[in-house]
Amino acid sequence: MDESKIKQLVEEMTFPNGKNRDMTIDEVAVIQPGLGRIMPEIGARTWKLYYAGKAENWPNAMYQWKETTKLFELGAYTRPKHEDGIEEYLRDDWAPVKKAIENENLDEFMKAMEQAVDSANAWHEKKEKGYIRWKVPSEAPPDLDLTPRK
Ligand code: HEM
Repeated sequence: MDESKIKQLVEEMTFPNGKNRDMTIDEVAVIQPGLGRIMPEIGARTWKLYYAGKAENWPNAMYQWKETTKLFELGAYTRPKHEDGIEEYLRDDWAPVKKAIENENLDEFMKAMEQAVDSANAWHEKKEKGYIRWKVPSEAPPDLDLTPRK
């Protein structure tokens, strides 16, 4: 069977999502999350990252940093029009946060976080979303005990 015939067959097939919904492969592709869905998760993790670092809980800060990085990468993949901007941000503003965590340097961390948040909002403006100004919430996230563990 040639490739175009296989493609046609796959396009006509449906796949159960385990919740009584059968979807075509195109429908599965279309519902992959964009930045409108991923960014609030990025905000929630960045909140945790900030307070983990502030408490000098470096293993937790590194965990939050890595999980947030994966969310950025997912957004760059599902929305190619934002790929270049996200890559630039990860290189220039997000990598210094990792460096500070590796150095276990609180002062360096707080400065890198301030720069990362300022730059995030500058990107929102560049993306014509200047009405989105993210800020670190004034309290630590209530669902995690961020006290460093011995
Ligand atoms: C730590 C860094 C960042 C944080 C914490 C953050 C946070 C957020 C949050 C919370 C929203 C959703 C606001 C809402 O639903 O009310 C949002 C939206 C958005 N952000 Fe970010 N952001 C960050 C970095 C970036 C970067 C680097 C870019 C682009 C290069 C970007 C592009 C966008 C866009 C395009 C939207 C609107 C999405 C849509 O509604 O389609 N953000 N951001």
